[in-house]
Amino acid sequence: MGIARRVWRAFDDRAGISQILGPVLRHPVPKDARWYYVFGSATLFAFLLQVVTGIALALAYIPSTGNAYDTLQFITHQAPFGKILRGMHYFGASAMVLLIGAHMARTFLMGAYKFPRELNWITGVILFIVTILLAFTGQLLRWDQTAVWSIAVAAEQMGRLPLIGRALARFLLAGDTWGGQTLSRFFAFHVFFIPAVIFAFVGIHLWLVLRHGISEPPEPGRPVDPRAYRAWYQALLRREGRPFWPDAAWRDIVFGVCMAGAVVLASLIVGPPELGKPPDPTIIQADPRPDWYLLWYFGLLALLPPNLENYVMVLGPLVALIVLLLVPAVSNRGERSPARRPWAIGAVFAICLMIGTLWIVGARAPWSPDFTTGPIPARITGAATGPVAEGGRLFYDKGCQYCHAIAGYGGARGPDLSAVGDRLTPAQMTWRILNGGTNMPAFAGNLTPDQLDALVAFLKSRSAGVSPP
Ligand code: HEC
Repeated sequence: MGIARRVWRAFDDRAGISQILGPVLRHPVPKDARWYYVFGSATLFAFLLQVVTGIALALAYIPSTGNAYDTLQFITHQAPFGKILRGMHYFGASAMVLLIGAHMARTFLMGAYKFPRELNWITGVILFIVTILLAFTGQLLRWDQTAVWSIAVAAEQMGRLPLIGRALARFLLAGDTWGGQTLSRFFAFHVFFIPAVIFAFVGIHLWLVLRHGISEPPEPGRPVDPRAYRAWYQALLRREGRPFWPDAAWRDIVFGVCMAGAVVLASLIVGPPELGKPPDPTIIQADPRPDWYLLWYFGLLALLPPNLENYVMVLGPLVALIVLLLVPAVSNRGERSPARRPWAIGAVFAICLMIGTLWIVGARAPWSPDFTTGPIPARITGAATGPVAEGGRLFYDKGCQYCHAIAGYGGARGPDLSAVGDRLTPAQMTWRILNGGTNMPAFAGNLTPDQLDALVAFLKSRSAGVSPP
């Protein structure tokens, strides 16, 4: 006891730790800080947890197309604690996204972004955006079918935008097609660039929290007046302020520890998501859908008509970002209490409702390929031998049927082809099959001329008059 204290004193005297941390820990906060103030610090805990588990994963992960998938399999199934680490990194990411969402909703509802804390909000919005980017870049590092196809589809859609499309797609893929350079780029963003941005902005964000103090719980009928607020807030702190440590900090610690415990528990009980198949450009058996926190966005894109989809994919997040950044510019004074700002409650409610609905749509995704479909029976193909029968088999073998239904057999990702023979000429069919289309891969490199002829013969035989009910 005595020795430990003496060593600490001597160390602190040379290093000056308490001189820096003392004022931070003891700074006064409003006395009635409540449980709903804990989301911000918990987001930071979750991020630090991600740094630790991420470094541990990076010790065994090789970011190259030949090895990434295998090293993740090794981490998941062989490395000691590998499965728990991957699980923690996965659920930690989920926790971080959830908590930052809760933190934003809380500060918005309570008007905590109003004067003088506008910059707190703006740096927070930037932290939110980079957190989403962190989650998105992380998913690609799995480098399985799903990850690779998600990025391929995203790049292809972006590429169709006018003017900036090609440049954006090239930036995303780090080249004209996906490959090792794409993985390297995502790895560099995921482990170096984005975490560095987060550290920097967390520093600024915390500095601003100290500079302006934690917002006091709002009360109806006590509007923010920028001319009087600072003096009023200082008087409030003098009157009834409490030191941050330990009066308010204990809640942050309890909540943070529970959050970390929940992440560990989830990784023990549920475990990390299974990897899909290894990526293979000739197999289109992939289900490009993002992890749950981006699934609603995927749902939104899939609901839109294809010609709007590409625009919304890029412009949607941009507009959302601008709206979020402008929130304090639109209203940085006046009532803070949610009881006097029904539109604020309405906005949060509407966003939750929208995300919830789109999330269900995204999870069901009737348009996503149906891999459970079986071959089309001969009674529907209408022939046992010859090119039409061969085409019917290829339609299944080449995966067309995952996306196209014929007489009720197959997925709904692409148009129903039961009567395609009435609609398209063989030339049009050939062109479509070779070149692909919106959300249809090009099959030019994947079919022999005979196979192509057989497929077209089969499709040509599909007509409303032929298909039995
Ligand atoms: C990943 C899903 C997917 C796969 C696999 C797929 N398609 Fe498609 N297909 C689509 C989509 C989506 C469209 C609509 C494209 C568009 O409008 O640009 C489409 C359009 C078509 C069309 C034109 C239909 C029309 O009514 O205009 C034909 C014909 C077609 N596909 C045939 C095939 C064949 C043959 C195969 C297998 C060799 C195949 N598709 C594999 C998704 C797929």
